[in-house]
Amino acid sequence: MIVAGVMSGTSADGINVAMVRVQGRGFRSRIELLAHYQFPYPAEARRAVLAAMNANSASVADLARLNFALGKLYAEAVRTAQRRARLECELVGCHGQTLYHQGNPAPFLGRHIACTWQIGEAAIIAAQIGVPVVSDFRPTDMAVGGKGAPLVPFLDYVLYRHRRYGRIVQNLGGIGNLTAIPPRALPEQLVAFDTGPGNMVIDAVTAHLFDKPFDRNGRFAARGQPIERVLHELLRRRFFRQKPPKTAGREQFGREFVREFLRLCHRADENDIVATATALTARSIGLAVRKFVLPLLESEAAKPARFREFVASGGGTKNATLMGMIREELAPLQMRVRTTDDFGLPSEAKEAVAFALLAYQTWRHLPSNVPSATGARRPAILGKVSYA
Ligand SMILES: Nc1ncnc2c1ncn2[C@@H]1O[C@H](COP(=O)(O)OP(=O)(O)O)[C@@H](O)[C@H]1O
Ligand SMILES: [Mg+2]
Repeated sequence: MIVAGVMSGTSADGINVAMVRVQGRGFRSRIELLAHYQFPYPAEARRAVLAAMNANSASVADLARLNFALGKLYAEAVRTAQRRARLECELVGCHGQTLYHQGNPAPFLGRHIACTWQIGEAAIIAAQIGVPVVSDFRPTDMAVGGKGAPLVPFLDYVLYRHRRYGRIVQNLGGIGNLTAIPPRALPEQLVAFDTGPGNMVIDAVTAHLFDKPFDRNGRFAARGQPIERVLHELLRRRFFRQKPPKTAGREQFGREFVREFLRLCHRADENDIVATATALTARSIGLAVRKFVLPLLESEAAKPARFREFVASGGGTKNATLMGMIREELAPLQMRVRTTDDFGLPSEAKEAVAFALLAYQTWRHLPSNVPSATGARRPAILGKVSYA
């Protein structure tokens, strides 16, 4: 079956569409990426998305409009992808744009509520493309006690499990998240969680200091030196010390955090500040690997079975300075840093591919959350279907 996977992440940079051939079922699915395209959000759409993520400044009417407007943008993206690839999909899996994600229950109206909200009206995509659309993947996992994230571990397990050694699969989107796959792991032995910021803080400080949406190829950071005092202070925060499962988003590393970050860096050289934001991502990953991943294999510390490879994906892989810092963090652990490109999957396409795979499972009435990753009580068939 040919499935179009549509992803827009917390960076709010735009829409990724992956055209994927999927066969088989469950963890034995086979996937072949046929084509992949990126469509940056038009500037005013990006502004509207970022404003909508800031609950204090969004009106209900604007949110309702944005839901439909994004549905149209997604439909256009799929249509353009089909035309360019000269392919027609039979199913769409659309993650949607997350406006709010709160993985942990907190008191609200006298109950304990965890919640998540992705927008981009799937009914519009279904009507315009003429095929069924699976959307709203995360609420299903939360309804059975999960944190609703991360969902990509399903794909990580399908693609990157290895019989002889462990792999750590790391996405560097707005947020960083990793999936640790021990050698010969069963799905319930996966450990996956958000490591902290990916590009989110780098993007925000680059925008603030240089009026650029991101630090292209890590050039600003390459000219600076990380400020150790600031890193030390931030890495003591609860999020980085907290045991997985754990999730993060703009709620943790958005505006408020960046304001605090800039305050801690006050008057430092601008390149040093970007270097510090970049090092925060690299160090938080190193910390997560040492603290929460390596101990997984301590008991069966047979040397050949250790975590040998670190496979990175997401827009952050284009940031050479960030990748260099990650290599430095992991070199003492004898871990080889690679990217999904080395395995034939373009690093910017991975999450879109994941939602094509998840939509396919749903269409076949198969579960695709990984309970050990999300904390769900059981596997669940994710999402909702909009019929054409
Ligand atoms: N050439 C590049 N140099 C540095 N960073 C880049 C480059 N291209 C993309 N990025 C980073 O990747 C981010 C987008 O990554 P993506 O994987 O799409 O994240 P998300 O899933 O959060 O949307 C951008 O915001 C930017 O920070
Ligand atoms: Mg993106």
